[in-house]
Amino acid sequence: MPCHFAPGLKPFPVPVDQDGIRVEELGRLAAQAVIVTPAHQYPTGVALSPGRRAALLEWAVRNNAIVTEDDYDAEYRYDRDPVGALQGLAPDHVIYAGSASKILAPGLRLGWLLLPGHLTGALSSEKTHADLGSDVTAQLALANFIETGELDRHLRRTRRTYRARRAALIDAIHTHLPDAQIQGVAAGLHVLAILPSETSETKLTAAAAARGVSVHGLSRHRANPTAGPPGLILGYANLPEPAIKRGIRELAIARKQTRARVGRRR
Ligand SMILES: Cc1ncc(COP(=O)(O)O)c(C=O)c1O
Repeated sequence: MPCHFAPGLKPFPVPVDQDGIRVEELGRLAAQAVIVTPAHQYPTGVALSPGRRAALLEWAVRNNAIVTEDDYDAEYRYDRDPVGALQGLAPDHVIYAGSASKILAPGLRLGWLLLPGHLTGALSSEKTHADLGSDVTAQLALANFIETGELDRHLRRTRRTYRARRAALIDAIHTHLPDAQIQGVAAGLHVLAILPSETSETKLTAAAAARGVSVHGLSRHRANPTAGPPGLILGYANLPEPAIKRGIRELAIARKQTRARVGRRR
């Protein structure tokens, strides 16, 4: 599996199903820490089920382990109630991580952590060594945005915008890619479209790129790229509805082209 972790850390993939991370696998791996996206797993979009949430926290307490809760897109929920953070249930074992990347812009490079008290010294030392601290002007601007209520207003506005974009995307997929199974729509800023097993993700994403549509395949997120059906991760945050519709139409044309080429070669 490609590994982009800092030296000294050895990551292991853990399977995810419709209820989220398979907690029993953590025991098998004798892991000491785990990174999860419980509110909206990336990229499948599943939420960690109540049973698994309890099991994960039980595992962390029993093994004196650390759970990093990456709440990267928690602010965008459409069809379901907000899911409470794990952090509040086991504050001595959970590091909560939030980010301005989805609510404002990834270029800001701002985020926040809530962590067990015994880790704060080590963490601030790591942060100092990493970059001497984040941009102060951007932090002050964000603080002002929050204090004046502008962030709340911005979230209310963008939730409406993204809800409409999400609806346009789902509608376009139903029209142009009717055999795709859509997953993970209840929250966040992307959906997952699972495609029939004969689809070549690589060919399809290349053909789509040639038509001006940039999409990522699901296999790049798998520990074993060939295990499981092909799929596409379709983000909708930064495109107005007409562009989303056009994009899915182009994607459907790209798909027909790749199928025709496969057919001709046979
Ligand atoms: C799973 C996941 N976590 C976190 C983030 C945000 O990362 P950062 O705050 O470093 O931009 C993203 C952004 O796309 C993400 O997909």
